Amino acid sequence: MKLIVLTLLLSLNLFSAEYVYVTVGTDFVESPEKSHFGLEGIQTNNEVSLVKIKKSELVKLSAHMHETYKRCGGYVFHETEASALESLYADNERGLALNGLFMDYKIDMQASVTEMVKTVKEERIRETIKKLSSFRNRFYKSKHGVKSSLWIKEKWETMSSHRTDVTVEAFEHKAWPQPSIVMTVEGSELADEIVVIGGHADSISGWFGGNNIHAPGADDNASGIATITEIIKVMMDSEYTPKRTIKFMAYAAEEVGLRGSKEIANLSKKKSANVVGVMQLDMTNHKGTSLKDIVMMDDFTNKSQNEFIGQLIDEYVKVPWGYSKCGYGCSDHASWHNAGYPASIPFESTMEDINKKIHTKSDTIEQSGGHAEHAEKFARLGVAFLVELGK
Ligand code: BES
Ligand code: ZN
Repeated sequence: MKLIVLTLLLSLNLFSAEYVYVTVGTDFVESPEKSHFGLEGIQTNNEVSLVKIKKSELVKLSAHMHETYKRCGGYVFHETEASALESLYADNERGLALNGLFMDYKIDMQASVTEMVKTVKEERIRETIKKLSSFRNRFYKSKHGVKSSLWIKEKWETMSSHRTDVTVEAFEHKAWPQPSIVMTVEGSELADEIVVIGGHADSISGWFGGNNIHAPGADDNASGIATITEIIKVMMDSEYTPKRTIKFMAYAAEEVGLRGSKEIANLSKKKSANVVGVMQLDMTNHKGTSLKDIVMMDDFTNKSQNEFIGQLIDEYVKVPWGYSKCGYGCSDHASWHNAGYPASIPFESTMEDINKKIHTKSDTIEQSGGHAEHAEKFARLGVAFLVELGK
């Protein structure tokens, strides 16, 4: 977010009296400090509000959101009022329609899921986090960013080489070299209904990143990719074949404005792809001090699917969970949500308790005790999600 905000600020004429449109958390719009910003409210959908603000106030807004709300950036910029409104009301029409008609979120696959979750291994997740954070960075424009994503591709190919129903592709993006990686397990009966489990593969350090920065990104987001890799491993080893199609994704260029996932989600929308559920795994291995082990962000996500995931945690992971909010589209789930698909992000801690080392060279696995015990819970949850939604 920081990078997009800064790039935008530089490309804008900051001294112009011109207004721009941003969506911010409604908590801010309802706070007394908002009077310092000369905002004009337009519309709200409870969690998020659309406001008009002078371009020249954006820097101040960014700093305020960071200091007071601990949000990096803290708002989403929109070129026009129309696109801002569209994002405000992209209220998962497809998700809701599908939920109403087809998705009954019934939990009845205990026999398969219980056996499968037992085979999740912390050690494998730990090793993948270590491997991914050993690249100098996974920046979207750097050769390390490309190499690390191709490493993920090869890893996923090796794990699935015995299956004829699985393909792994590098999804190329025109504007930067790092590809997104997409693994598809073809559904046996309902192949055109798709369940997505994804996370971002790229990492960043500092405000601008850079091709040679040191950005281990162990928690943000080697942890999510390692969790997904473990979900794949368990699925492949158990020979589980889903009725629906399952897609695992390692998105490029999340740290610079959700760009990889935005292209993929918007392409799905353009093709009218029937994506019935999306789980985002971004930061899974740094346990906060709160009693909740898994925290679901309740903004830019689908309420019914979040409730379903809560039930999956109770049934299969058996750890305390709760809700928090990002206050802005903080990760790739927002790309899917904005494209009209039901998305959720089970997260490692509450927002207040967030890992302070992300986006620095100190985002290492040692900050999480040198193990992957927290991420293990998310791998169990991911296995439960794919079996109960993929059936
Ligand atoms: N992993 C973070 C998202 C995150 C951070 C979620 C803290 C919850 C708490 C993600 O990689 C990230 O850094 N997102 C950007 C926003 C994005 C639009 C570039 C951010 O939060 O600044
Ligand atoms: Zn990040």
